[in-house]
Amino acid sequence: MAVKTILTEPDQLLRQISKPVKKVGKQEQKLMDDMLETMYSANGIGLAAIQIGVPKRIIVMDISKDENKKKPRYFVNPVIKNKDILKSTYEEGCLSVPNQFAEIDRPKNCDVEYLDYNGEKKLLKAEGLLATCIQHEMDHLEGILFIDYLSKLKKNMIIKKLSKMKSTRIVV
Ligand code: NI
Repeated sequence: MAVKTILTEPDQLLRQISKPVKKVGKQEQKLMDDMLETMYSANGIGLAAIQIGVPKRIIVMDISKDENKKKPRYFVNPVIKNKDILKSTYEEGCLSVPNQFAEIDRPKNCDVEYLDYNGEKKLLKAEGLLATCIQHEMDHLEGILFIDYLSKLKKNMIIKKLSKMKSTRIVV
């Protein structure tokens, strides 16, 4: 396993639409292992492959709060089959939009069909944080970031801030 570099806004790669995976093989499993390690080391609860520059429809997540009881989840080619009309609101952040947070409304519940780590077809009935998190991650597969739901003014302010951070960043 290896920790990869997480791309941050305004990196244009993050705006790519990710491609479906044909078969879950060794290569995809290695990618998922790397993604999970990268996510844990960045203290995130979800990560999409495109965030480490790989445009494949793969997501890893772990919303368990207990450090000692890790519960990694893997989603390959996830599709939302059903979603609630009711919305819930969470303050969201994103590893690709560092240190920025905003309240976002999303359907409260959703059913997601996907392939797991072993390539087996599964259906998840997600609610609460899990539902919000999977929808946030699935947006990444379409090149969408949570800041896209904000007003133009707010979004531009965040992008400006992040661009400035990037241009003054030095590695010595
Ligand atoms: Ni994100």
